[in-house]
Amino acid sequence: MLDGRRVLLIISGGIAAYKSLELIRRLKDRGCAVRCILTKGGANFVTPLAVAALSGDKVYQETFSLTDEAEMGHIRLSREADLVVAAPATAHLLAKMAAGLADDLASTALLATDKPVLIAPAMNTMMWEHPATRANLATLEARGIRRIGPGAGELACGEVGAGRMAEPAEILAAIEVMLSDGPLKGVRAVVTSGPTHEAIDPVRYIANRSSGKQGHAIAAALAALGAEVTLISGPVALPDPAGLRVVRVESAVAMLDAVRAALPAEVVVCAAAVADWTVANRATEKRKKTAGAPPPAIELTPNPDILMTVSQAGEQRPRLVVGFAAETEALLDNARAKLTRKGCDWIVANDVSEDSGTFGGDANTVHLLTADGVDSWPRMGKAEVAARLAERIAAKLGKA
Ligand code: C5P
Repeated sequence: MLDGRRVLLIISGGIAAYKSLELIRRLKDRGCAVRCILTKGGANFVTPLAVAALSGDKVYQETFSLTDEAEMGHIRLSREADLVVAAPATAHLLAKMAAGLADDLASTALLATDKPVLIAPAMNTMMWEHPATRANLATLEARGIRRIGPGAGELACGEVGAGRMAEPAEILAAIEVMLSDGPLKGVRAVVTSGPTHEAIDPVRYIANRSSGKQGHAIAAALAALGAEVTLISGPVALPDPAGLRVVRVESAVAMLDAVRAALPAEVVVCAAAVADWTVANRATEKRKKTAGAPPPAIELTPNPDILMTVSQAGEQRPRLVVGFAAETEALLDNARAKLTRKGCDWIVANDVSEDSGTFGGDANTVHLLTADGVDSWPRMGKAEVAARLAERIAAKLGKA
């Protein structure tokens, strides 16, 4: 499935570099050409010989090797690839990327490339959580650089926590998504997913039962067809789908801000179960119970309607805006009314009554409402609903 595609793999200095050897093998198995840059640090963990043998190509190590510069300059090296992957990406490499430093072949190639970049960070937990790394990461992600991992677990240094490089299979899945040549290639998509949390005080919040499974599946399905997806997710227990940009938020207001920041896009799918109200009298300190005093009153105030805001965005309006209608009664009537009221193009209506098993479950029964009428789909898995919807979106945008 990666036949003829070209990956430039940058292996920087972390113990996880051994996993990159496995990644090279898996990429080669799928017909992908892999060219490797091994940093000085990387060469402390894996040998150039192993990298060369597995990639079937020479290994690039020095910026100013005259032979390399004559045969293939760092510019060409970074351009003659469809995707640049830094795995492992050390804290130091991320810092150099964020600052735009170019003091070796790896950082020079990363600065000179015009291709999408995927990073698989690997480092000690403290380094991962350090504000410097956080800030660097935010800078890189704002520039559109994609990230996979790190996972949490026991680290090579003996500590336990986040910082373990994603497994080769996960990195491969992200690469496959990023190199996907589907009908939505080049199409920018935004998907909202999950619940929102509306804070009552610093420790309490109002939430709902949305798991984010359907929204996350839609984001993954659009990405699988080649779309450049930004998934804006409320608090969920799901892992980030591979190969797409994920922005995590808590409140409806933060979700709207994130959606605005992700626009323009050609398609927006609002699958999140956004709280209708937020707390007007949110306390900055934890509310105390006082013996004899009545329980505190929570005052609610309406949240912005993200779907409606996007649907009425004037010049910034996406070509296709898809909303969801989660109803417990009069499903189609309510959904039809929502289509008109919100001003979106399509509504995916689903029954979330208690016995439907939709909330948190793996299956869904949906009806797609468009200007042309209602299309009722049989009960199917949420991944299948997502795939079907993504295909309909591709057909609508004239790219299927
Ligand atoms: O009005 P209701 O919540 O039933 O509408 C559901 C649809 O509207 C969903 O697509 C949901 O994501 C979206 N919505 C929104 N912002 C809100 C409320 C709902 O985007 N504040």
